Parts: sequence; C-alpha cells; structure tokens
Amino acid sequence: AIDPSFDENREVVDSHNGHDVWGPVDEPEKLGIHGTHVAVDFDICNADGACVEDCPVDVFEWVDTPGHPESERKADPANEIQCIDCMLCVDVCPVDAIDVDSS
Ligand code: SF4
Ligand code: F3S
Ligand code: ZN
Repeated sequence: AIDPSFDENREVVDSHNGHDVWGPVDEPEKLGIHGTHVAVDFDICNADGACVEDCPVDVFEWVDTPGHPESERKADPANEIQCIDCMLCVDVCPVDAIDVDSS
C-alpha cells in the first residue's frame, strides 16, 4: 500500500501536470508517487480504473507508462485541486495505491 507518510519519507524530484512527483524515480521501472493532496503510488497502481470511473469530480486522467512492471497506464491525479475529499477513490482502489490527505 502507499505510504501515508510519503511526504515525510520521500523527496520531490519532479513535477508533472501541475503536481509534484515524489521519488525515487528510475524510468520506466520506477515511477514514484504523483500528487500531494491526492497521491497515487504509480509503482503500486495496476490500472484497475475504479478511481477514474468513480471520482465524482474527475480528478484522475490516464497516463501511459510503457515498460512499467505493474501496468502500462496509471491514474494520474491531474485535477487534484478539484478533490472534495469524499474518499471514494481510497476505498475502491483494490491495491491501496491512493492516499488522500483530508486533514
Ligand atoms: Fe475524487 Fe473523492 Fe478521491 Fe477526491 S477523494 S480524488 S473527490 S474520489
Ligand atoms: Fe490504479 Fe487503484 Fe486507480 S489500481 S487506476 S489507483 S483504482
Ligand atoms: Zn502525474
């Protein structure tokens, strides 16, 4: 599962679609965590898609990640600023790849 303390345990190494990327990153096998308020661990996401389908405000957009061992696309929190903290994505992700900081 995603580390809920990733913002203490990892460093920001890049930005993507207006959000932070938390390392380590070593493409294409290691992609890190995308986002801060809505954080998706790209190394855990297996492209289930429940978050993309269920988010009521369309926070997530697919990004292609060819060559990643878990899946060749990921749910990117491209619109994390729109999040209403409903926590649905956290509940539906089968591999616990998402952390929403609702505090
Ligand atoms: Fe979307 Fe709710 Fe997840 Fe925020 S907590 S990204 S609004 S599903
Ligand atoms: Fe990935 Fe979980 Fe969404 S596996 S596509 S973050 S439901
Ligand atoms: Zn991203």
